[in-house]
Amino acid sequence: MDVNKLLFRVHNDVRGNLVAIEEEKDIPFQIKRIYYIYNVMEGAVRGLHAHKSLKQLLICIHGNCKVLLDDGKEKITVELDNPNLGLYISNAIWREMSDFSSDAVLLVLASEHYDENDYIRDYKEFLQFVKESEDK
Ligand code: TYD
Repeated sequence: MDVNKLLFRVHNDVRGNLVAIEEEKDIPFQIKRIYYIYNVMEGAVRGLHAHKSLKQLLICIHGNCKVLLDDGKEKITVELDNPNLGLYISNAIWREMSDFSSDAVLLVLASEHYDENDYIRDYKEFLQFVKESEDK
């Protein structure tokens, strides 16, 4: 599965911690957009989609949450519970974010601007997309 857990270097001293992330160096794409999710209602599940070409990096910079990843063949769940842990998600991966702690802030770095046409929101369509990509 084309996903990767990345541990970023923490610049730690007596004043506290700092993590720096540089595009195409620490993560494998140029950052065109960032967004963040917070104040998530208990029990809420977000995501429930895949992207045709978008690549993203998720970091839970405060609190914790879980991410289910599915490439159409296998499913894995990754817990994001550390501000220096990044989860790289390539395109064509179904994702579901859940189990947000009430204090969770999920930061997302994205390789493209927002484009609703890049979304696959139907799971059956997603499986079809994976199959068609393989047939090419
Ligand atoms: P949505 O895709 O439902 O979020 P999630 O992936 O967490 O389930 O997005 C929520 C709303 O925000 C929806 O109306 C689209 C809008 N939105 C933007 O305008 N720009 C963005 O970059 C993103 C990710 C969402």
